[in-house]
Amino acid sequence: LDDLLSEGVRDRYVLVRSDLNVPLEGDRITDDGRVRAALPTIEKLAEAGAKVVVTAHLGRPKGEPDPAFTLAPVAKRLSELLGAEVALAGDLVGDSAKARTGALAVGGVVLLENVRFDARETSKDAADRAELAAELAALVPGGAFVSDGFGVVHRKQASVYEIASVLPAYAGGLVLAELDVLKKLTDDLKRPYALVLGGAKVSDKLGVIANLLTKVDRLLIGGGMAYTFLKAQGHEVGKSLLQADQLDQVRGFLAEADERGVELVLPVDVLAATEFAADAPYEVVDATAIPADRQGLDIGPRSRELFAGKLADAATVFWNGPMGVFEFEAFAGGTRAVAEALVAADAFTVVGGGDSAAAVRQLGLPEDGFSHISTGGGASLEYLEGKELPGVVALEGKN
Ligand code: 3PG
Repeated sequence: LDDLLSEGVRDRYVLVRSDLNVPLEGDRITDDGRVRAALPTIEKLAEAGAKVVVTAHLGRPKGEPDPAFTLAPVAKRLSELLGAEVALAGDLVGDSAKARTGALAVGGVVLLENVRFDARETSKDAADRAELAAELAALVPGGAFVSDGFGVVHRKQASVYEIASVLPAYAGGLVLAELDVLKKLTDDLKRPYALVLGGAKVSDKLGVIANLLTKVDRLLIGGGMAYTFLKAQGHEVGKSLLQADQLDQVRGFLAEADERGVELVLPVDVLAATEFAADAPYEVVDATAIPADRQGLDIGPRSRELFAGKLADAATVFWNGPMGVFEFEAFAGGTRAVAEALVAADAFTVVGGGDSAAAVRQLGLPEDGFSHISTGGGASLEYLEGKELPGVVALEGKN
């Protein structure tokens, strides 16, 4: 981005791919973290006099216009934060987009409607994606492309990947900052290094565990995925979430952690509820003795203390995934305890995106209490799995 700005962008079109995929309740944005994170790049370009055309997705519509996935609430929030009107084009590359971009003034910003309303964006066929990329480029004659949607760099999609070979392409500040942080979690890191994983599914985290078991000193497992670990150790988990098809894989991780001297920390107690509900009656039970008719919905008080203790003297921490069903106040305590332990630790602390980043904000924890809160859920995990990120490969000109 700095390179582009130093070339001068006054009166020049710049197409920016942002990740504005925010959680919504109706048309209310429940967490605007991604909109705020996208702002600096857009602001810098607008201040430098560029004609800024922003493209982004919202949710996973089926490749055709769907009012349930309009970016209208995002355009409104962007306008409020920017302190200037951001017009929303009624389509992506059609008449409305052409009219809106054609009418852009110096320093003006337009948001194109949801890029996933066009099936070519996510098409498996590279020719389809290339065709859409060419149409996007045609909206910004003589323009440049800035890739700033870190949360989508792991997607091989037209507005992320193909577009970078059609227009002169630059990395945005957010993408650079995110990559910089993630690099510190894999190279040159300070020890002890603790990895805290939670969330519902072990299967979502297999790659990260496999790749980071070679690097971390401690692996703390909470959330729904912990029950598959407990089961793999031979304990009964009652009606708790269990991925039986992952048990062999998890047994392999247990053995590898042991061999490598990685300290594996599992919950020692859980809040065992009679059903999956916000007001479900529950009791604190040992994690090794969950009654047959109950399910663990959060880590218990002794586990919270144990986890906090293991984080207190860590020098590097990466956390992804809630410790319990934090959306229900009664089962948010474990997630809150881990988040507070990260805030208290004198460590380089990174919160992976998605649910854990949303939890930090919903629980009202200070965002500046963490070294970094990533905007990318899947993207940061794929980086930590050691996978190539297509959106980054494209910027390096290797596509
Ligand atoms: C995310 O929410 O992680 C990003 O916006 C990517 O969305 P996707 O998983 O639908 O591609």
